[in-house]
Amino acid sequence: MSHAEDHEGTRRDFLYYATAGAGAVTAGAAVWPLVNQMNPSADVKALSSILVDVSGVEVGTQISVMFLGKPVFIRRRTPEEIEAARAVELSELIDPRSENPNKPGTDAADTNRTMDEAGEWLVMMGVCTHLGCVPLGDGAGDFQGWFCPCHGSHYDTAGRIRKGPAPENLHVPVAEFTDANTIKLG
Ligand code: FES
Repeated sequence: MSHAEDHEGTRRDFLYYATAGAGAVTAGAAVWPLVNQMNPSADVKALSSILVDVSGVEVGTQISVMFLGKPVFIRRRTPEEIEAARAVELSELIDPRSENPNKPGTDAADTNRTMDEAGEWLVMMGVCTHLGCVPLGDGAGDFQGWFCPCHGSHYDTAGRIRKGPAPENLHVPVAEFTDANTIKLG
């Protein structure tokens, strides 16, 4: 066998094993949908709620977490942000009626949008209600809340739409404090 033939043989072997390996991976991947189909309730249950440790969230900062494939903003507001949001009359809002699902029957007054009575903790979907971009936070926009640069929607410090094409306030997800440091989403 010449050196060239030897090399050729080695290369063929390598290709063979690589193909066999790829086949094994494909077979393995195909198993998962089947397992999920066989046990949908466990799959859905795992996704339907998450616990978020907020002990490290300082006043005047926020975190974003992914929940059901979408960002959720958890902001701990400053006294100034709370004051600014509470000074706004419902009649000034584009969407005065949007409800907090955690407080059924409420309107978009600032006191209805927060997790706590003091108004420090605001939890909202980080999804612009215009076409679904993720707004910028930390005092962004004309109302020092959130700003969606996609088409220029300005949200205030309670996440309420104040200017631009978005029709609704940032949505509030189902959420609750399970203890002083933990927020459960879903
Ligand atoms: S998606 Fe936010 S302004 Fe259009």
